[in-house]
Amino acid sequence: MKKYTSVDDISNLNEILQAAKEIKLNPLANKQLGKDKTIGLIFFNSSLRTRLSTQKAAQNLGMRCMVMNLNTEGWTLEFEDGVIMNGSASEHIKEAAPVISQYCDIIAIRSFPTLKNKEKDEAETVISSFVKYASVPVISLEGATEHPLQALADALTIEEYKKSDRPKVVLSWAPHPKALPQSVPNSFVKMMKKMDVDFIITHPESYELNPKITEGVKIEYNQEEAFKNADFIYAKNWSNYIDYGKITNQDSNWTVGKKQMNLTRNAKFMHCLPVRRNVIVTDEILDGDSSIVIPEANNRIYSAQVIITKILEEFK
Ligand code: CP
Repeated sequence: MKKYTSVDDISNLNEILQAAKEIKLNPLANKQLGKDKTIGLIFFNSSLRTRLSTQKAAQNLGMRCMVMNLNTEGWTLEFEDGVIMNGSASEHIKEAAPVISQYCDIIAIRSFPTLKNKEKDEAETVISSFVKYASVPVISLEGATEHPLQALADALTIEEYKKSDRPKVVLSWAPHPKALPQSVPNSFVKMMKKMDVDFIITHPESYELNPKITEGVKIEYNQEEAFKNADFIYAKNWSNYIDYGKITNQDSNWTVGKKQMNLTRNAKFMHCLPVRRNVIVTDEILDGDSSIVIPEANNRIYSAQVIITKILEEFK
């Protein structure tokens, strides 16, 4: 594997999931692989799970970690070509990425979308610029349009908890007071399309995700209908993709609670976290037996570790 910035970078999901399961059984088995190698974790946005789980994964492989909150601690970067840099940006990505490449063997980046400029967000300007100008492999820690490490952890979690060969998985929109990216649901949809699952998305009308990503997936506007006989409920808010980045619905009837979960086949409840209690999902569900959000977050270690392993093996 040369990079991991999209679920599309996975060519053989079964092989990756098998490797992740083996790593989980013995996380320190390969602790020489990353000896004397360094991963740079560059954050333009906040994080709890991604930051700590990726450090943990790299340390399990014997790597050193450099972590930088580039938005608050670094120079403001310029990503446009040919601009006169007499504004707020002090350094161009054309220098920054090659410089970081001299210090790190892998660069991992978190950069959320603007949710204002759809074209710029869809171009994944920050992460694609690092891929272009860095001389080392790049991993996405969540970009403008995808969160591929989260989706891999989600796939591993479904593999571990499924009770049938082809479980029914529902991605459900839920309300939120802030405008959130489409990155998590986009990567989740891409991942479910690679898995042998009966997959359905439910959201209010006009909350369609990028149709290029959801092509071929059943969409149901009636949440209760979608939940019937489900084995996994994956709740997530996203802001409007058509009326880009706007919040056009805050209907609390979409908050996942007992009313909806009672329609399922004792479904497991999943969410990438952080989650707003009693907005996305009720306390009752999150604190109940059906919730697997904590083991799901644990799997972030193994999704990161399997990807770092594949990259280190490629460049050994
Ligand atoms: N799920 C996830 O990416 O969590 P953080 O934003 O805390 O890293």
